[in-house]
Amino acid sequence: MHFDAIGRVPGDPILGLIEAYGADPRPGKFDLGVGVYKDAQGLTPILESVKQAEQRLVDRQATKTYIGGHGDAQFGRLINELVLGADSPLIAENRAGATQTPGGTGALRLSADFIAQCLPGRGVWLSNPTWPIHETIFATAGVKVSQYPYVGADNRLDIEAMLATLDQAPKGDVVVLHACCHNPTGFDLSHDQWRQVLEVVRKRDLLPLIDFAYQGFGEGLEQDAWAVRLFAQALPEVLVSSSCSKNFGLYCDRTGALIICAGDAGKLLDVRSQLANLARNLWSTPPDHGAAVVATILGDAQLKRLWADEVQAMRLRIAQLRSGLLDALEPHGLRERFAHIGVQRGMFSYTGLTPEQVRQLRERHSVYMVGTGRANVAGIDATRLDRLAEAIADVCR
Ligand code: LMR
Repeated sequence: MHFDAIGRVPGDPILGLIEAYGADPRPGKFDLGVGVYKDAQGLTPILESVKQAEQRLVDRQATKTYIGGHGDAQFGRLINELVLGADSPLIAENRAGATQTPGGTGALRLSADFIAQCLPGRGVWLSNPTWPIHETIFATAGVKVSQYPYVGADNRLDIEAMLATLDQAPKGDVVVLHACCHNPTGFDLSHDQWRQVLEVVRKRDLLPLIDFAYQGFGEGLEQDAWAVRLFAQALPEVLVSSSCSKNFGLYCDRTGALIICAGDAGKLLDVRSQLANLARNLWSTPPDHGAAVVATILGDAQLKRLWADEVQAMRLRIAQLRSGLLDALEPHGLRERFAHIGVQRGMFSYTGLTPEQVRQLRERHSVYMVGTGRANVAGIDATRLDRLAEAIADVCR
């Protein structure tokens, strides 16, 4: 038979948790697995700004014809402004362009093909740890993957080791950096540390690819873009992968962009022609709906304000969950041990729990998180923090 030699591969370490959680019949489960935001009711809501934009689209949309290889031009213009800043000199000089992609993952996949095809021989450096799909995306495209240290065995950011390793990277290699809300650890660089990274990137002539999947979930929409804008203005060439999955809650509408910052307007057009060509072979043209929603929101002052307020509410709720969990751990004598939860930013916490403790949490207490000890703080039910703290205390005994 044709398929005889085909074996089975293990399921995805993150998406597989959706099924495992759903299949658990026990009441009082905790879903701290896949990175989706949940509200106080435990739902992943459709934002009100999105609902209103969708209504406008239903009323006004006149066609479902293909959008071009770079996607919706209005979306591209507005996402460029959201990421780089409306007053960015790169935009004024026509040195930055966004290519719409199916989610942030699509932007990463497109960048991987771009590196493989247009920058042959360049390796890619990923933080250790990182989102596990980073590694498979670049490896699948045939790009050599290496790691720079990010968090040490003591579950602390190790900036010295990161800088020292990048300082040895072959000139011209690509370095993937997480703009904010580092996935999976939640540890972000300070402004000073970003400046140090910039110096090494400049010295080694590295090409930064900045993964920006959580804009608005760290310190705020503008604040979270600080490092992206620093790099984009200090260096002639930068790639940015931007995702609308979390901050617009458009997970299943697969909405994102690969932003290219180039040395001049002509070179931008060269690179964009390559991206359109590569995208044609990956997905032809991107899906329209999510980008149309984003363009409707960002292009309307009232909807944009509503959306920014909704993003802020999600961010503040996550911050409250972090401090609430620490308060709940206090009676168990665990506040200090888990103090990093209060320092980390964004949806995720690298808890420091071992794979064995994660397994026990799941088996004894129906608490689901990624095997590496990554918990999605945004999935915590605020009314059951004590129950979660008891479960954690149980496996830490
Ligand atoms: C996560 O890390 O949980 C999210 O980015 C969802 C995904 O695609 O893995």
